[in-house]
Amino acid sequence: MKYAVKIGIIGGSGLDDPDILENAVPKTVSTPFGSPSSPLLEGTICGVPCVLLARHGKKHDITPSKVNYRANIWALKEAGCTHVIVSSACGSLQENIAPGDLVIPDSFIDLTKHRELTFYNNNEPTPKKVVHIPMEPAFCVETRQVLIEAAKKLNINCHEAGTAVVIEGPRFSTIAESRVYRSWGAQLVNMTLAPEVALAKEAGLCYACVAMATDYDCWHESAEAVNVSSVIAMFQKNVEKVTQLIIASVQLIAARNWDDVIDKLKTTIETSVQSK
Ligand code: ADE
Repeated sequence: MKYAVKIGIIGGSGLDDPDILENAVPKTVSTPFGSPSSPLLEGTICGVPCVLLARHGKKHDITPSKVNYRANIWALKEAGCTHVIVSSACGSLQENIAPGDLVIPDSFIDLTKHRELTFYNNNEPTPKKVVHIPMEPAFCVETRQVLIEAAKKLNINCHEAGTAVVIEGPRFSTIAESRVYRSWGAQLVNMTLAPEVALAKEAGLCYACVAMATDYDCWHESAEAVNVSSVIAMFQKNVEKVTQLIIASVQLIAARNWDDVIDKLKTTIETSVQSK
């Protein structure tokens, strides 16, 4: 095997519990793009090397627009990660995705406005090149398959695909916006998947997300409109499912050979450079 797996785990709201790691050692790191949201917590899960990062900071005081997505992804890459699994709280845009349900997204619509979108901005340390990374598939197909397989093993009901609309936040959507997203056929709305997923691809990382629907946003006639306390309460109520799913997935990832998948990602990046 050419590549030894190491798995970065970015915990979103509600999933930044360091207890999922054995032998955890905190490491404060910096990157050419600034500091990541939290120290990296290096340890193992069932013997597999993992690195935990709290997306919103240890005190949960970093708003979605201010998360340094580039520093987070760069730090995980520098730490030697081959994979990144993230958790994310989302609003559901479809009746059949109930609050508490898990979804493994396969695409996204980026409506964010104030975020750094690429490592290739004519700045060091990346080469002074223009890179147009393809976004289909947006998420790592094989890593998503592992998450789906792990959910089946654990008898956790999960929706095997879904498109997430990513809004800038920090405010939630208006009902008019929510209806537009539904009319686009999207399944979820959240505030953090972009540009995280695209940066992970630029960094050559196998990236997939366990999304938890925590609410019906504000479009549903008989459900209360989304608010912070209902999101937190629903996430806490179901967080154990996410934790178990990640632990099982880590073991399945470690049992596979990822050489072809990682080499293919590398080729994608190499062929995405626009140069004369
Ligand atoms: N995160 C959780 N629920 C959300 C919603 N309805 N909109 C945006 N982000 C969310």
